[in-house]
Parts: sequence; structure tokens; C-alpha cells
Amino acid sequence: KLLIIDFGSQYTQLLAKRIRDIGAYSEVVQFDDKISLDNVKGIILSGGPDSVYEEDSPTLPENILESKLPILGICYGMQLIARKFGGKVETRDVGEFGKTTIKIMDHSKLFENTDKEFNVWMSHKDVVVEVPDGFKVTSKTNNGIIASFENEEEKIYALQFHPEVKHTTFGETILKNFVIKICDINETWKLTDFVDEKINQIRKTVGDKKAIIALSGGVDSSVAAILTYKAIGKNLKAIFVNHGLLRLNEAKEVESTFKDYFGIDLTVVDAEERFLTKLKGVTDPEKKRKIIGEEFIRVFEEEASKESDCEFLVQGTIYSDVIESAKSGKKTAKIKSHHNVGGLPEDMNLKLIEPLRELFKDEVRSVGEILGLPREILYRHPFPGPGLAIRIIGEVTKEKLEILRKVDDIFIKSLKETGWYDKVWQAFAVLTPIRTVGVTGDRRNYGYLVSLRAVDSTEGMTADWSKIPHDVLDLSSRRITNEVEEVTRVVYDITSKPPATIEWE
Ligand code: XMP
Repeated sequence: KLLIIDFGSQYTQLLAKRIRDIGAYSEVVQFDDKISLDNVKGIILSGGPDSVYEEDSPTLPENILESKLPILGICYGMQLIARKFGGKVETRDVGEFGKTTIKIMDHSKLFENTDKEFNVWMSHKDVVVEVPDGFKVTSKTNNGIIASFENEEEKIYALQFHPEVKHTTFGETILKNFVIKICDINETWKLTDFVDEKINQIRKTVGDKKAIIALSGGVDSSVAAILTYKAIGKNLKAIFVNHGLLRLNEAKEVESTFKDYFGIDLTVVDAEERFLTKLKGVTDPEKKRKIIGEEFIRVFEEEASKESDCEFLVQGTIYSDVIESAKSGKKTAKIKSHHNVGGLPEDMNLKLIEPLRELFKDEVRSVGEILGLPREILYRHPFPGPGLAIRIIGEVTKEKLEILRKVDDIFIKSLKETGWYDKVWQAFAVLTPIRTVGVTGDRRNYGYLVSLRAVDSTEGMTADWSKIPHDVLDLSSRRITNEVEEVTRVVYDITSKPPATIEWE
């Protein structure tokens, strides 16, 4: 396996994923962990926010150099190598962040099968100005900064740029060269190994005790549930809270998939009336979110207390949630209070199990495929915890929910029929309180205005409105106004995020 030593880079998990994608098993450890080199065939030193000359900045673990294993240092990892072997590192006033072009100066195994000049992604303030004795410079940036150096004999390689970031044109080639040509790792690690490993791990942790999960029907909690079910069977208690704010037929689909098809011990709680009563007269978006989040926890706790002997809580946390919650520290302003069905309850005295914590969305989907989850669940667009409540502007009522469900279903079906569902990241309809005049069957109709929204996005952080062809929008609009008489007008939302958010509330 390949060992990644983390010095605090924001890209470390991405690096681990890229190595997994190449087919090598990688393990991430922290620089101050006790590091075991059993079965390790190569080491990558990650980037990090520190400067090597700062006091208390992390240093190279000693046993690593003695091991004589191939080493690749990236960014901060590069500076550590430079310093350790007697090179010179300097801090520049102005850093280099973003795309830069590098030129290959000398042959390197790392750069086999790349162009002589290509774009790379930089993110640093410190630069190596002199490489240690016995090392040679293999590439420089256009500004003359050393972009890579190495000691081929000792198999020590250093890169100033980030090969794991997609903007580095030959990033994958470089990592492959290191893993396959330099570390000589040829065994192909597959996601099925991860699945087997996790199942064993969960079985060991839970033993013959019981675990509970709040199933939402979304990708992450679904995959976490099946994975745990494979490990402990009926000792997993799944609870699905139907808050009445779901899409058409959603509750039924979840029940038939998990209970009837997979045989999971699933309790479906019909709490529609409870939620609607709480939401009566509420129009403020943040209040809606708060009410739904709190009520959700209350319902879940009530159900969970019936399973008195549960010791573990399973959550479908994935890697992007981990970064999100790390980022939502003091400094970032609160835009909306996201309520996640996974974000459950702090004072229940349950031990957490998060089997998907280090995986990226596409890997979670692949795990789901391995476990036999249907495509409709795995490739479903994201759906917010507060559901349709934040897509009905103003007060949420049963009548409005029914209208929106019909409109949303028509839009989604039109996208699926035309092959557009899988091309956009997320699509849905919004019901506004605006009423406009229309003419239906020669009669005046004073109906609602709905907006369709479809976006292209990576992980929901930023988004652009999708350029869906006019005829697809036309088809959706005609069907909606024909089939839902309460709606007289359909518009398409053409705002990106930022400045807008994806959801309207
Ligand atoms: P926004 O509207 O913040 O949405 O641009 C970004 C992504 O997050 C989803 N979203 C939520 N997901 N609980 C969730 O689990 C929430 O409260 C919530 N609010 C928004 C939204 O659907 C989009 O995919």
C-alpha cells in the first residue's frame, strides 16, 4: 500500500481518492501519528499550511528516511525534503495561487508520458531556491521557480505543484508514474475490497449489539444503511420519518426498496400532520428550517426510545460533509442553516458509526452499485432535508404541497424522457405565492406562478443554471399548465450561485 502523510493540506483526501482511482490502496495518517511502515511500498508527503522555518512547524517523521522507501513530497512536503537534505527555502511576499505553466528541464520518471510544457496548479508562498546536494531540478515554472526536483538513486521526488488537482493537466499521469513505475505497486485495489473491509469492521464494532439509522431515501443514508445491514442484519433498526414534505410517491418507494426488497427492519413514521401543524402560518425560511429540523429530531428520538437497547447510531456522512462542517467554523457567514437528516441528535448517548466518511460522492454511488441499490436511488438528484417546505415560498399547506408535487413530477419526468435528468446536477420546481391571470378553456383562470430550476454544479458549493434546450422547457411548461389547473404561468430560473443559492429559501 501507499502511505499518505498528512501535514494539513486541504487536498489530502482528494489525493487519497486519486490514488484509489489508479487502483492502489492508500492510507492517510497524520504527521504526528505513530507511523507503521508494514506493507508500505511508497510514501507521499502532503502539502500543508505551515512554513518549514516557523517554530513548531511539523517535521518529517524519522523512520521514514531510514526506510529507504520511495518518497514523493508535494508542496509543503517538498519544502520538508529540501530543508532536511540541506537545500534552501524562502518565503515570498506574494504567493503563487492557481494555474501556472511549467517546463520540463531534465528527464524524470515522474514526467514520462507528459508533454514538455503543461499547466499545473500551485498554491504556496514558500519556494525552494536551492536544491540539496545530490538532487537535480527537473522542471521550472515560467517565472523561473523550481517546480520539481529529485534524487533518482534515493527515489526521493518533490513537486511544488499539486498533481491531485484536476487543473494539473498531467496530474494523473504523474501520480501513476510514481505509484506504478517508482513504487512498483501493481496490485489492483478495488472498491469491492473497501466494501468487504467496512462490513467486517462494522460487524466487529457492533458485535451482537444493535444500531439505529435515520433513513432519508437519499444516496448517502441509503448506502450507509445497506452496508450496515450487510454487516449486522436485523440488528440494524432503520427509521424513516415521513414529514409529509417529500416528492410524489417517495415514501412508498423507500418502503418498498428497503423493507420489501432488501428486508431491512424499517419503521416508517407518518408524521405529516405533526409537521404541517407546526408549520401553520410560518412564512420565514429560517423559521421553517428550524421547526422542521427540531421536529425531525423529536420524532426520531421518540421512535429510537422504543428501541431501548441500541448502542450505535449510523450516519451517512461523506467526505464533502466533513469539509463543509470544518469550513462552517467561525469565519464563514451563515447563509442558511442546513438541516441534514444525518445531523442527529447530540444527547442520545449513542456511539457514532460513519462508514462513508472518507469517500467522495461518486465512490459512494459505486459502493451502492456493488451493494445492489437501484439506479433510481443512487443517481437521484440531491434533495434538501426540509424538503418541499423550502420550495413553497410563503406558508406551507397541504393544497400547495399537492400542487408542487404534481408540477415537480412532470418536470422531472420530462427531463428523464429527454435524457436531461442525468445531465444536470439538480432539478426541481418552486411554487411561488404569486398569482397571475391565465386563460384555460376560454375561461379566466387566476392561478399560481411556478418556477423551474435546474443547475450544473460540483457538490452544490457553486452552481450555474443549466442550459436546457428550449424544446425541453417548452414540453415541461405545456404539460404543467395542461395537467395542473392551479398553475397559469411557468418561468425558468436563470440565476447562478453565487449570487443566488440553489434552493429559493
Ligand atoms: P443551496 O440552496 O444552499 O443548496 O445553494 C446547496 C445544496 O444543498 C441542498 N440543501 C440542503 N440539503 N439540508 C440538506 O440536506 C438542507 O437544509 C439543505 N438546504 C439546501 C440543496 O438542495 C442543494 O443541493
